[in-house]
Formats: sequence, C-alpha cells, structure tokens
Amino acid sequence: MTAPETSTPTSITTHLATPAPETSPPGPRRVLVIGSGGRENALAWALARCQGVERVWVAPGNGGSDELPGCEPLALVETDGAGLLAAALERRIDLVVVGPEGPLADGLADQLRAGGLAVFGPGADGARLEASKQWAKALMLEAGVPTALHWPATSLEQALAVLNQHPEPLVVKVDGLAAGKGVTVAETQAETLAAVEEVFAGRFGAAGASLVLEERMNGPEVSVFALTDGQGMVLLPPAQDHKRIGEGDTGPNTGGMGAYAPAPLLDAAGLELVRRTVLEPTLAALRARGIDYRGVIYAGLMLTADGPSVIEFNCRFGDPECETLMPLLGPELAAVLLACARGDLSQAPDLTIAPSCSACVIAAAAGYPGEVNRGEAISSTLETSERLQLFHAGSRRDADGVCRTAGGRVLAVVAQADDFDAAFAAAYGGLGQVHFEGLTYRRDIGHQVRRP
Ligand code: AMP
Ligand code: GLY
Repeated sequence: MTAPETSTPTSITTHLATPAPETSPPGPRRVLVIGSGGRENALAWALARCQGVERVWVAPGNGGSDELPGCEPLALVETDGAGLLAAALERRIDLVVVGPEGPLADGLADQLRAGGLAVFGPGADGARLEASKQWAKALMLEAGVPTALHWPATSLEQALAVLNQHPEPLVVKVDGLAAGKGVTVAETQAETLAAVEEVFAGRFGAAGASLVLEERMNGPEVSVFALTDGQGMVLLPPAQDHKRIGEGDTGPNTGGMGAYAPAPLLDAAGLELVRRTVLEPTLAALRARGIDYRGVIYAGLMLTADGPSVIEFNCRFGDPECETLMPLLGPELAAVLLACARGDLSQAPDLTIAPSCSACVIAAAAGYPGEVNRGEAISSTLETSERLQLFHAGSRRDADGVCRTAGGRVLAVVAQADDFDAAFAAAYGGLGQVHFEGLTYRRDIGHQVRRP
C-alpha cells in the first residue's frame, strides 16, 4: 500500500454517524479547563465561544487567560485534585476538560468523576495509552494496529541482548512520561547503545525504569485526534506539527514549533483508513480491558510506504495542534465534549468543521528547547479577529499587570484563510506584531504546503 495521495483540504469530512436528534441534550453552561499551556488557552477560547456556554474557568491558566472573552483564571494547580474538585462543585461546573497528560496519568479525571463531575479526559487506566509505551505497544499488538516492531527491556542486559540481534540503529523510548524528551531516533548502533545506557543510568528517573526499542520507520508524520465517549468517535482534521527547533526540520526536538491543518497528506479516505485500522481497534481493545475511555485519543502517525503506522498515542490534545484546530471547530464543540464526558456521544449535535486552512506559528524564548530566560516583558500590537488568534502558552501576568515570559514556548499566533499561503502570511504577519526579548521562531512552518 502506498501513502495516501494528497487532496484539497476542503475534501475533509468528519461527521458523527447519527444526525443530531431534535432532543439533543443541552451543552454545558459552566466549564472548567485544567492546564496552563497554549493548548488550554485555545481550548478555553473555543469553549467560551460555544452555544450556551456562559463562563469558562482555566486553572491555573497563564498570562493570557484573563484576556479571553468569557474566561477567567482560577489559581489552582493541576496537581491539586481536592482543591479543583471543591472549586468545580462550588462553581456548579457542568464540564471539566483536563488538558495535560501528567494529571490524567495521576488519576485527576477519576478523582473529579468520583466527585460527581462530567470530565472530558480519560482515567488513569486509559491514560496509560500515553503514560506507558510498553503498555500501549502491547495493546496495539493485541488490537492489530499498525506500528513499528518493538522489543521491551527492563534492564541494560535485556536491551543489550536486543541490540546484539539488531545491528541496525533503533529508536529508544523510555517507558514513562518524559515531557517529550524520552525518545532518541538513533542514526547508528553506537547512538542506540549510548541512549540505552543513558536511560539505565537513571537520567529519566522512574519514567526510565524500562524502555522500548523500536525499529525505525520512514515517512511524513501527521497527528489525528478522535474525540470519544468510549464507544463512538468524532475525528478532527489531521494536523501536522513541526517538532524540530531548526528550519528544514533540523536540531533538537521541541514540544512543537508550529502546525497546520487540515494536513493534505491525509485526505478523507486516508482519515477513514486511520479510523478503521487504528482508532476503532484501539478503542475496542481498551473496552476489552474494561477501560471506559472518555476524552481524546491523539494518534501520532507516520505515513509509511505500507500505510499509516502509529508512532505513539497520547491521551490529550497535541500542542500546538490544538491551537491550530480549535479555530476550525464550530459552536457545538462544548456539547460534543460534554457528550463524550457523559458517554452519550450519539446524542450530540454534529460538530461543524470550517473548510478553511489553519496555520500556527510558535514564538519561543531564546535557548528553547534548552534553558531559557524568564521574566521578559511581552508586548503586542496584534489585533485579533475572527480569523487571527493570539494564544498564550509560557506566559504569566505579574502583580504589576505586565505580562511576562514564563516558559520555552511563549505564544502561538494562529490564522485561518482559504489557502495555506494566505493563512501563513497572516500568521507570520501577526507574529511580527508581538515582541519580547529573545523571541525566536521558525520561518518555514508549513513548508510542505505553501509556496516558498
Ligand atoms: P514521540 O515522543 O514518541 O512522539 O517521538 C518523537 C519523535 O521521534 C516522533 O515525532 C518521530 O519523529 C520520532 N520517532 C518516534 N518513533 C519513531 C520510529 N519508530 N521511527 C522513526 N521515527 C520515530
Ligand atoms: N505536538 C506534540 C505533542 O503535543 O506531543
């Protein structure tokens, strides 16, 4: 099988199987988004625009949370489950959306559900899809989901035995959550060996108590997101991230320096193939293990010569894919996420998806993905509009009212247009209107889809 052919972005159609009945349950009025990144800023922005939503709280949020219409920050951190539960009950929250993987893996969604809240985000059991590479690989194998061949190892000796059998360079992945830093795509066997030794020397703590060695795949990468109530699913348009810091996709991996959607690499037929061969079998395997997965399944795919193959699963939205996708989604989003949380997605309204091209460029602090300076004042003359957004990520608002940098990826500028040339021109134009000392960005985001 060959990689899916490209097509125009507007050919993407993602529908619920069942049309919305007259009696669609109402969407949420009061929403809590948990997290502090660009992803959560974009989620809060999109949810506050939805039909029937009166207020969105973001805990803890970032320097941009209080600028979003209809939103306000809530000074509680992701790890404070008891505080979040109490605050949500006090505010009569109808829907909680948990952004980051760490709290999900630690059981935050379970704790909030046990307190009676409707939560979009899997419990600790489902979050293992991201929190343990070995567990996810075993599930894929069981479900017949296409993915790279792999060999788990729980000791240096085991890993060396695998390397002895495989002289080709392998990909080394620590088993647990490692904030995007736990993967080495080795170019030589010496590099594979060095990465293995580093893991077993304890560089990743408990996350690196075991690892997975994987055969190396080739092909373009694309991210696919399925919103699910554990039974049905709604697919979002595929997005393509740019993980490397340097132009031409060079240098160290980052959390993502920019993205665009819909990625023409995966047309409507390609997306259906992913639904059939990857997402539905994965969901069925989760159910077979007794896991009621309510949230988003993020499939990181490589489009190999043999078809789409899973690089990894995540149990949350991608960042910056989320910032890129949210502006394309219609006002039914809140009702759809609530239906996922309640387990009645078949009753939800159809999610409208704009047939536009969305482009996102990240403004990062100098030195990212290494150590960065924090505390630089952020200024902006950018006027946002229906088709131009500024999302905050690593920023904070200080007591003096000034917004300052507080992390590696600081801002995301996102624009939509009828084609990618215009969308990227608008996003880069917007980026030119924001400033902080040391601002760095990639000039070639979307090089795959726009004219040089
Ligand atoms: P991950 O943290 O699992 O997303 O991996 C980071 C990056 O490593 C991916 O985006 C890929 O570019 C690369 N990668 C991971 N697994 C493989 C593989 N089996 N073959 C080739 N590249 C891979
Ligand atoms: N954009 C990559 C990630 O969120 O993991």
